[in-house]
Amino acid sequence: MRWTVNGAAVECDVPREATLLHLLRNDLQLNGPKYGCGLGQCGACMVLIDGVAARACVVPAQGVAGRRITTLEGLGNAAHPHPVQQAFIDCQAAQCGYCLNGMVVATVALLARNPAPSDDDARAALSHNLCRCGTHVEILQAVQRAAVLMAAQRAEQATYQMAHQMAHQTAQQTAHQTAAPSAAALP
Ligand code: FES
Ligand code: FES
Repeated sequence: MRWTVNGAAVECDVPREATLLHLLRNDLQLNGPKYGCGLGQCGACMVLIDGVAARACVVPAQGVAGRRITTLEGLGNAAHPHPVQQAFIDCQAAQCGYCLNGMVVATVALLARNPAPSDDDARAALSHNLCRCGTHVEILQAVQRAAVLMAAQRAEQATYQMAHQMAHQTAQQTAHQTAAPSAAALP
């Protein structure tokens, strides 16, 4: 069976009863998603399936064959963290860190559908992600910080694209003017 995991095609034989979490952690050694309750209740195992947050402990691996799976590892790394990961670092939104995979993945999914969530929106989106350490206040701050960082990233990308487009147009105009012979040069 095949899946696309963090942008790469992977092929693997898994038993019919294997969960997506089993495939990711045991077969692919992707340990970002955590095993918490194993019952779809705590959110520690969250991943994105075609961009939508899902609880990998209750998703049959064979049932999502051919789909695009993104884990915490696929979002960013220590050298180049995703803005949501950076926001959680900035806000020190962790104690033991066990819930963080799910909190980060759920926040990425939230900001994809709602780039400027209110605190109530964030509470609702994360209400089924459990944190036994009680880091909820910092986690909510991290969601707001992530929204700011992502907005800044979008603005930077838009500025870069505009500058690139203008440079391209200027180059085209210059090439056009150089190629066209002037009337004075004609015999
Ligand atoms: S381990 Fe999947 S929801 Fe708890
Ligand atoms: S930081 Fe420990 S479970 Fe959330």
